[in-house]
Amino acid sequence: TSIPVISIDGPTASGKGTVAHRVAKQLGFHYLDSGALYRLTALSAIRHGIALEQEQAIADLARVLPCRFEKGHVFLAGDDVTDAVRQEAIGVAASKIAVLPLVRKALVELQVSFRQLPGLVADGRDMGTVIFPDAIQKVFLTASVEARANRRYKQLIEKGFPANMEDLVKDLAERDARDMARTEAPLKPAPGAFILDTSHITANEAVHQILSLYTDAV
Ligand code: C5P
Repeated sequence: TSIPVISIDGPTASGKGTVAHRVAKQLGFHYLDSGALYRLTALSAIRHGIALEQEQAIADLARVLPCRFEKGHVFLAGDDVTDAVRQEAIGVAASKIAVLPLVRKALVELQVSFRQLPGLVADGRDMGTVIFPDAIQKVFLTASVEARANRRYKQLIEKGFPANMEDLVKDLAERDARDMARTEAPLKPAPGAFILDTSHITANEAVHQILSLYTDAV
């Protein structure tokens, strides 16, 4: 029997991070924030002065990404980059390198390595479609662009980053379009995924729904 995976995919700022993290905590499962890996790769490329179109060079960085996740903190080559990777500019850079097939391929092994006992909650765009097609429970979280821009706005302000609603709506729409239009692992619900719209429910309500789906699935 294989190690159970719950995949939670969805667009930017749909609440995946918060929800996936809480589901993992409730079940005592490991948690994979795959977006963070794309963000770390983008940050690493920028730090190395590598242009974001340099597919091979970025894939080479991604394959040996010197990252570490510890108590809610993220490290890149020993530096605490927890706040740096959450910046909107890094999210946009991440979505640019995420279209490159060699970069996606280079990150597969690292993502799969998070699958450990007693189980994994994996959050991203292609967790249920590509990385963990055998996930026991697949979820696709969505929310309106407005609800997502509002959440992202609050997150950024809380962290002390500048934020502008109009720019955020534009960024989100652009990022959604790029994530859905790409040929390699485009953002779309996995076959059999439970589609959960979080525009009008709280994170905890979403967590409850996912936990009861999972309980029914096992
Ligand atoms: O989820 P997050 O906003 O942190 O992800 C940043 C970017 O990384 C996304 O816009 C998407 O382009 C890319 N990504 C991806 N596949 C994943 C996770 C993230 O392409 N599994």
